[in-house]
Amino acid sequence: MIVLKTERDLEAMRPACAVASAVLAEIIAFIQPGVTTREVDEFAAAVIKRHGARSAFLGYRNYPCHTCISVNDEVVHGLAGDRVLRFGDIVSVDCGVIYRGYIGDTARTVAVGGCSVEAQRLMDVTEQALYEGIAAALPGNRVTDISRAIQTYVEANGFSVVREFVGHGVGRTMHEEPQVPNFVDPKCNQRLRPGMTLAIEPMVNAGRPEVKVLKDGWTVVTQDGSLSAHFEHTVLITEGEPEILTCTERMPSRLKVS
Ligand code: MF3
Ligand code: CO
Ligand code: CO
Repeated sequence: MIVLKTERDLEAMRPACAVASAVLAEIIAFIQPGVTTREVDEFAAAVIKRHGARSAFLGYRNYPCHTCISVNDEVVHGLAGDRVLRFGDIVSVDCGVIYRGYIGDTARTVAVGGCSVEAQRLMDVTEQALYEGIAAALPGNRVTDISRAIQTYVEANGFSVVREFVGHGVGRTMHEEPQVPNFVDPKCNQRLRPGMTLAIEPMVNAGRPEVKVLKDGWTVVTQDGSLSAHFEHTVLITEGEPEILTCTERMPSRLKVS
């Protein structure tokens, strides 16, 4: 069953998503060469608390951290620990918070200090793929239209989309129907309707699409060791243009798609 949000739901979900967005921005600003991923996660925990929210991840299926911090060939669900972030690393931060009973879910990948031209291109293509997907999130379209927009853009740029992890509906719970794959899956072809709130989240590998889970039971890495990037927004389907709930700014014109 797909939950359609009412204006009343949105009165709480908009602030929840705004908090997630603000927290992610603070985490990103904290990242610099020399900090450990544990320090990043502890900082995130403090920021989430200061906003009067709590982590949507901590304890979810026994997940042990407040955020997901995935470095270089790590795709998603990276666990915070002793790892020191180095100049040239790329780090994906996924932040989900619960606030006023609703969840906001958003992620982005950034370079630590700076990175290679190819790593920057991977991040740019993944971010643009997210906006291509969002641009297809129109009422009357189907989930497959979002999936196709993302997959087509990524593959045209020589990268690949992860199959095993997908976007999702989000609201009072983190993973609601429908699933929103980053590749065309004919089984996921639900009609998009106003009131649906979707976490659209391309995970893009520089090399092959296959991934594996490390022995820690969480960290997802590329099988071929290639770099991976991840961008995510929580988006509301409206009667018109999609509303990016985890974006307090307007869509940057650089990223706007026609
Ligand atoms: N935030 C992830 C997503 O975007 C899910 C994290 S699951 C957790 O869907 F267990 F790691 F928290
Ligand atoms: Co997320
Ligand atoms: Co998500």
